[in-house]
Amino acid sequence: MPTKIVIPYAPRPAFLPFHGRSKRWACLVCHRRAGKTVACINELIKAGLSEGKKDGRYAYVAPQLSQAKDIAWSYIKQFTGALPGIQYNESELWCQLPGGNRIRLYGTDNADRLRGLYMDGVIMDEYAQHDPTVFDLIIRPQLIDRKGWAVFIGTPAGHNKFYEIYQKSLGIWENEDGTKFDNAEWFSMVLKASQSGLLPVAELEAARREMSVEAYEQELECSFEAAIKGAVFGREMKIATDDGRICNVPYDRNAEVWTAWDLGIGDATAIWFAQQVGREARIIDFYMSSGVAIDHYVRVLKDRPYNYARHLLPHDADKTELGTGMSIVEQLKSMGVRNTRVVPKLTVSEGIEQARKFITRCYFDQKKCYQGLEALKLYRYEYSDKLGIFAKRPLHDWSSHPADAFRYLAIGFKPESLNAAPIKYPNLAIP
Ligand SMILES: Nc1ncnc2c1ncn2[C@@H]1O[C@H](COP(=O)(O)OP(=O)(O)OP(=O)(O)O)[C@@H](O)[C@H]1O
Ligand SMILES: [Mg+2]
Repeated sequence: MPTKIVIPYAPRPAFLPFHGRSKRWACLVCHRRAGKTVACINELIKAGLSEGKKDGRYAYVAPQLSQAKDIAWSYIKQFTGALPGIQYNESELWCQLPGGNRIRLYGTDNADRLRGLYMDGVIMDEYAQHDPTVFDLIIRPQLIDRKGWAVFIGTPAGHNKFYEIYQKSLGIWENEDGTKFDNAEWFSMVLKASQSGLLPVAELEAARREMSVEAYEQELECSFEAAIKGAVFGREMKIATDDGRICNVPYDRNAEVWTAWDLGIGDATAIWFAQQVGREARIIDFYMSSGVAIDHYVRVLKDRPYNYARHLLPHDADKTELGTGMSIVEQLKSMGVRNTRVVPKLTVSEGIEQARKFITRCYFDQKKCYQGLEALKLYRYEYSDKLGIFAKRPLHDWSSHPADAFRYLAIGFKPESLNAAPIKYPNLAIP
């Protein structure tokens, strides 16, 4: 007789509709500490044990792999520990369920690990904090051949990709052709602390007293309207949006293009492309990748039709690297990229001040700069709930690479037209 296995998970009532949904896509906007991660891990376990797929592959994806490891891995073990024959791979962070299906943990900061796979079901936890291009470009195609499902879950962080997905799930998102997004295949749910009954009232009252109105509204009442807590460029990016400066900004063939790079060795590299036209700094393009050598980025420059003026590099780009015995400047030069300029070394906060001023005269192309713009909006000082203060330096996550490259652009972007000496007219002596 088969033995009955009991998984030690009693769903919180608020999550029952989610576990019982039949739609392929789901968006859950939930307050902090609602039990999002626990519910999602158990959704993956349930799917892995009951969907009956051969060699099923399920994924839990956090914004950072380290976050997935710190939090979700212990939940995985807690809820699968009683299953007979369960196997764990500690270095690759996957578990194999009885029957052979696997659940694996990923981070979108480590997108290379995700390439070349197929997926049957994916949880995107804390979706407002993710690099939104990773789902669109890498994960979504992996769900095609086996008709996999996806869940986007998190707490809001302003009008970013998570907000777009929430609006799509409700069917109120407007497509480019003016029609409404078809949400027939979407499950949608909002869980506010004032309604869920999941957190003790006294705790909520204390939090309301201690947190700013904005932070409370965002974190506990699921407001997409509150500004992102600690956003470094929050004010400037909001003004740029309100002014209509995030729009269609085509390449102007009559002006040269400057680029600014943040170079990540074993990390992401981000590049902004800018032109000066009159008083306007036009930010026409953006590129980011990771896990590839520098010649990849040289090709990115060459593949674009731009006429380059200068390439701005971080202050340490002229230091010799141990591996190659050459500096980044020398490596670029050997590949034909000569007109580089190493930007002066400023502190992060000095650079941020320059970038804030710079944004006020920038026009951004909303399509080509989409990923960079999302990063500039999200780049933030981390808030310590325990200490009640913001960290002195912004948080290092996917958004910090585009933000660093943007600082270098703000520091080094000095087209001649702005610095040209005043025109001297001949003395027109009038008798
Ligand atoms: N169904 C449940 N039964 C018992 N405890 C639960 C359940 N769901 C969540 N919890 C507990 O509630 C706490 C918060 O859970 P979880 O980490 O899933 O919340 P979260 O919404 O992801 O929080 P955060 O906003 O911090 O990411 C944890 O201590 C967890 O063990
Ligand atoms: Mg969580």
